[in-house]
Amino acid sequence: MNMIVAVDDNWGIGKNNGLLASVPGDMAFFKYKTMDHVVVMGRKTLESLPNRRGLFRRTNYVLTSNPDFEAERCIIVHSDEELLKELEQYPPDEVFLIGGASMYNRLYPLCDKLYITKLEGDFGADTFITNIDEDDRYEVTVESDVMEDDGIRYRICTYERKK
Ligand SMILES: NC(=O)c1ccc[n+]([C@@H]2O[C@H](COP(=O)([O-])OP(=O)(O)OC[C@H]3O[C@@H](n4cnc5c(N)ncnc54)[C@H](OP(=O)(O)O)[C@@H]3O)[C@@H](O)[C@H]2O)c1
Repeated sequence: MNMIVAVDDNWGIGKNNGLLASVPGDMAFFKYKTMDHVVVMGRKTLESLPNRRGLFRRTNYVLTSNPDFEAERCIIVHSDEELLKELEQYPPDEVFLIGGASMYNRLYPLCDKLYITKLEGDFGADTFITNIDEDDRYEVTVESDVMEDDGIRYRICTYERKK
């Protein structure tokens, strides 16, 4: 499994159940990486998406403890065990963990590759993930140049589990 996320300087990822910023270049990268693949998210992240439905042209898995939960374009699962069993049918490099914090913080150690967009600055987040730079099981293998969109500077880093 892969993980894909955008963080600020404090490893913040969201506020008010939304993203920290809208960065078109990062959105394009997210779309390019995940299109026609499998995405995995928590119920709150689903509910932050437009029309509260799964992403177009992707197989969407949503984790919730609510047995009655339903959402358009989504396959609903109720435990990590059920999720991981389902994911066995896909090549691991075609599966992307797309949030939010509860999902990233618990499941990132199962990911081989982490695509982390680093937004420069403090965006006043209320939701944070683990600082992966402090996890010595992972190393940065690719780091883009600094890019800029709408005044926001960012770079995209690929982390891989150390062999
Ligand atoms: N920067 C980024 O790249 C990025 C990406 C995605 C999301 N985000 C942001 O992250 C924030 C949301 O993160 P979050 O941590 O609050 O929510 P979340 O992880 O999206 O969803 C949490 C919900 O997922 C379900 N869940 C998680 N683990 C479960 C388990 N083991 N078993 C059953 N259900 C489980 C529960 O749903 P129930 O309560 O229904 O049981 C839980 O309340 C938002 O601000 C969002 O915009 C940022």
